[in-house]
Amino acid sequence: MIFEAVALLLAFIHFSIPLAYYWYAKAVWLKKPWNIKADLNYTPRVTVIVPTYNEATLIQQKLDDIAAQDYPRDSLEVIVVDSASTDRTPEIAEEWARGNNLQVKVLREPVRRGKAHALNTALSHATGEVVVVSDADSTWATRDTLRRAVAVLADPSVGAVTCIKVPAGRSPGRVEETYRGYYNTLRVAESKKHSTPVFHGELAAFRRKLLDEVKAFPTYTGSDDSHTATLIALKGYRAVALEDLVCVEFLPTRGYTSWRVRRAQHLVQHFAYTLKRVPRAPRGLKPILVAEAYLHLLNPWLLLAAAILLSAAAAKGDVLAAAALSAGILLLALKPYRTWIASQLYLILGSLRNLSGKGIAWEKTAKR
Ligand code: GDD
Ligand code: MN
Repeated sequence: MIFEAVALLLAFIHFSIPLAYYWYAKAVWLKKPWNIKADLNYTPRVTVIVPTYNEATLIQQKLDDIAAQDYPRDSLEVIVVDSASTDRTPEIAEEWARGNNLQVKVLREPVRRGKAHALNTALSHATGEVVVVSDADSTWATRDTLRRAVAVLADPSVGAVTCIKVPAGRSPGRVEETYRGYYNTLRVAESKKHSTPVFHGELAAFRRKLLDEVKAFPTYTGSDDSHTATLIALKGYRAVALEDLVCVEFLPTRGYTSWRVRRAQHLVQHFAYTLKRVPRAPRGLKPILVAEAYLHLLNPWLLLAAAILLSAAAAKGDVLAAAALSAGILLLALKPYRTWIASQLYLILGSLRNLSGKGIAWEKTAKR
């Protein structure tokens, strides 16, 4: 009986806190004005960094996509930074560069030390006032995506800008598509309030000066994009995701689960590092960091504890516990619920994986 009561209480907390947070963010923050003065005529020198590790199948398309942007050519530089790919990625990038009038530098790191390390190598060659990171396995939805991202940095209160994400391809149980729907809304709502602590490597734009102030991209976490943006937000600048900046990301053709677990692992690292800095966070940012750190670090474990307690009680013949557990399983037929449970499992597995290493140079997942 006591098992059951504790389990139900834990489950109640597990589900009600994120629901309350989502509801509040949507009902209150999302309705706020942006309070940002974007200027589409602001076109400073931009460096787009594309980090690559075995992206031979995608790099050409990625460069085509950047070249199709309507950003002024003479203010745009691209750096492809490759870390010891075993396919022809850097050669393909060099060939592409020879046949196009876009300024492209191809850098090669002799040893693979992870994405953030590569970004820092690129940073030491970057001449842009604005630095944009964009993963090779992604495209931007419109020709003016880059210009609109940079326009927001015309406002001196903004230090970093990211996109929202639309997945290309199909995920098992449609969980990726459903997850993105909710998360995009949340990221925009947090951005309107102050900043979002979750950035996307498909388009992460930073003011160069601030990258130098936070000592470049952090190599101690795999979540370089989110952590860099959060360090900038902690300095008092806004780090925002805009609803009209859309990135398309190719979903893995195989190994979706381990891909999600690795990302969860990196987000867990990011929030664990961020936690220490919460007490000194700007006022508007604090509730966001507290909520997101709770949701990533602690909340998933309540679900696991509840499930274990209910299973133990059910095994002892407790009918109510068995009924609650069955309900929890039957509900998996509902997409939003299934999506949520899957994310919780990824976070739990991701946290556990952190016990055996940080996964800074992660396994390559086939996307196309
Ligand atoms: N130069 C270099 N060196 N590039 C790398 C390395 C490396 O060691 N590892 C990965 N990359 C490149 C990939 O080629 C790709 O362009 C980009 O970094 C993202 O890597 P993916 O393998 O596509 O990972 P993802 O799609 O799951 O990435 C997401 O999660 C990461 C954290 O887990 C993105 O949001 C990333 O930005 C994020 O860092
Ligand atoms: Mn990717």
